[in-house]
Amino acid sequence: MTTCVRVGIAGTGSYVPEQIVPNSHFEKYLDTSDEWIVQRTGIKSRRWAVDGQATSDMALIAGQRALEAAKLAPEDLDLIICGTLTPDHLLPGCSALVQRKLGATKAGAFDVNAACTGFLTALNTGEAFVRSGRARRVLAIGAETLSRWIDPQDRGSCILFGDGAGAAVLTAYEDCKQGEILKTTLGADGNGYELIHMLGGGSLTPPTHASLDRGDHFIRVQGREVFRFAVERMGSLIEELSEGHDYDEIGLVVPHQVNLRIIDSALERMGWNKDKVVVNIQNYGNTSAASVAVALDEAVRAGRAQPGKLVILAAFGAGLTWGGTLIRW
Ligand code: UT7
Repeated sequence: MTTCVRVGIAGTGSYVPEQIVPNSHFEKYLDTSDEWIVQRTGIKSRRWAVDGQATSDMALIAGQRALEAAKLAPEDLDLIICGTLTPDHLLPGCSALVQRKLGATKAGAFDVNAACTGFLTALNTGEAFVRSGRARRVLAIGAETLSRWIDPQDRGSCILFGDGAGAAVLTAYEDCKQGEILKTTLGADGNGYELIHMLGGGSLTPPTHASLDRGDHFIRVQGREVFRFAVERMGSLIEELSEGHDYDEIGLVVPHQVNLRIIDSALERMGWNKDKVVVNIQNYGNTSAASVAVALDEAVRAGRAQPGKLVILAAFGAGLTWGGTLIRW
């Protein structure tokens, strides 16, 4: 028998570490300036995890906050999906640690690695589980500790990234009566594999002393090429998700916080007003899989997601991958 359950977002939560790293941190040792970083990216500061704090710690708090908002207990969960490219360990997955720390005794758990599309991949996968009747309550998380994988000497990338976590609880719409997911999309183009990558540490090039000395474990970004791809993809995702809906129906766009100029260009292309868009990149930088999840939670808590209005989530990242979700709040 085919089941088709309407799916809603019962609650959201997020967490960013307390350590604030302003642009002046980089001015101290790199040929860069606060002015350049703000003008070229929109970033003023970012949060970095402190020693001993890892991805699962942040994911746990975001998950607890989402469960609290959904008025559900950890034991109510059937599944935990964690989008991350920076799990605490390569093995096992971050989601298993979250499951243990949360005490979600009845939940299955797995990670997805779709880089900055991580939260939307987790969310859209969780949506499919609930829609098909395979799970009743799913915790979708996007969480990253990117600060541990940046090359502090690479001024083109180290200034971009921050740490944090965001989460959403998915249930049957009938149970939560809010945040109905109307449309989901995921895509990929592996031809852009090398535009954002970490060369070392995987099965092709396992870590060696030499690879560590070369810095092969750091995130490498071909910023200019990614920029071009991102402007095009952000615009086309928003177009695809909003197709068939009037401009006035759209309450909020929550884009991946990658670069303020990329967000502005996409909006310009659409001719959309900036007040519909959630932007927090100035405070957190690019937190990859956490980015859309944190921005969505902050917008929800600030009362910016109005009941009945449409909310568009759009992200893209390494792979290349991209994903989007259309929600009626
Ligand atoms: O989520 C996916 C991961 N994110 C990304 O891949 C980021 C996407 N790309 C971007 O956000 C932008 O491309 C950057 C912010 C990374 C760079 O901005 P840009 O306007 O594309 O600069 P550019 O790479 O074209 O570089 C312009 C100049 C270069 O100097 P020359 O060659 O013109 O002399 C860079 O060396 O800016 C220089 N530059 C910097 N100068 C001061 C690069 N980084 C810095 C810096 N401070 N931090």
